Amino acid sequence: MPRQLIAGNWKMNGLSVAGTRLAGALREAVATAPPPCDLLVCPPFTLVGRLAHVLLGSGVAVGGQDCHAEAAGAHTGDVSAPMLRDAGATAVILGHSERRAGHGETDGQVRAKAAAALAAGLAPIVCVGETLAEREAGRQEAVVAAQLAGSLPDGFAVAGAVAYEPVWAIGTGKTPTETEIAAMHAMIRRTLAARFGTAGESVRILYGGSVKPSNAKAILALPEVGGALVGGASLVAEDFLAIAAAARA
Ligand code: 13P
Repeated sequence: MPRQLIAGNWKMNGLSVAGTRLAGALREAVATAPPPCDLLVCPPFTLVGRLAHVLLGSGVAVGGQDCHAEAAGAHTGDVSAPMLRDAGATAVILGHSERRAGHGETDGQVRAKAAAALAAGLAPIVCVGETLAEREAGRQEAVVAAQLAGSLPDGFAVAGAVAYEPVWAIGTGKTPTETEIAAMHAMIRRTLAARFGTAGESVRILYGGSVKPSNAKAILALPEVGGALVGGASLVAEDFLAIAAAARA
């Protein structure tokens, strides 16, 4: 199994001074005390190039939060996977529930974006997860299985990661129980192995949704949890580093 990955999703947060300071703090901290995991920060597009520069050689990778499915063209306001790669990113979050809900992204679009990311040499981190209503109806596994079937392109297992982020756990302070997380991750692993064979057995499956220093150790110790996708707590250097320190060695 690869090392666990602790990825920070800054969402639409970060102006240049504060963002550079946060990245600088991460750079200094990992130089003094290397964490037992891989680290990735995903700032807004405007900071990808700057952070790639600040973090060059630090071991902390930089990623985007979305990309277009095409490499170039008449798509005002969009950013392509080769552009992210060119700016120094090595990964990209795709299909986050905030994009699925706020921009109407479909599984098919996420799949096309993930294929574009792979073609550009970026590691796609594809997000899946059920709403509260879907969980209360007992449909969470069916929902996530359908998202996986629709959102993952062929060849995904070579470089991709999956992030299980229950929509109701994002930014709410609520998390599923350890049993619920373990059950979902086991289902995702079975699905990946069935589709991608042995390559699917080593794809990292991250958990995301209200991960913080106080719950990171327990979540990261669960079977089939290959890391965490962290929102709010990734904006505070000490919290993000504390989560990283809780990774399984
Ligand atoms: P929070 O950690 O703020 O709940 O956000 C999770 C998330 O959406 C990461 O992509």
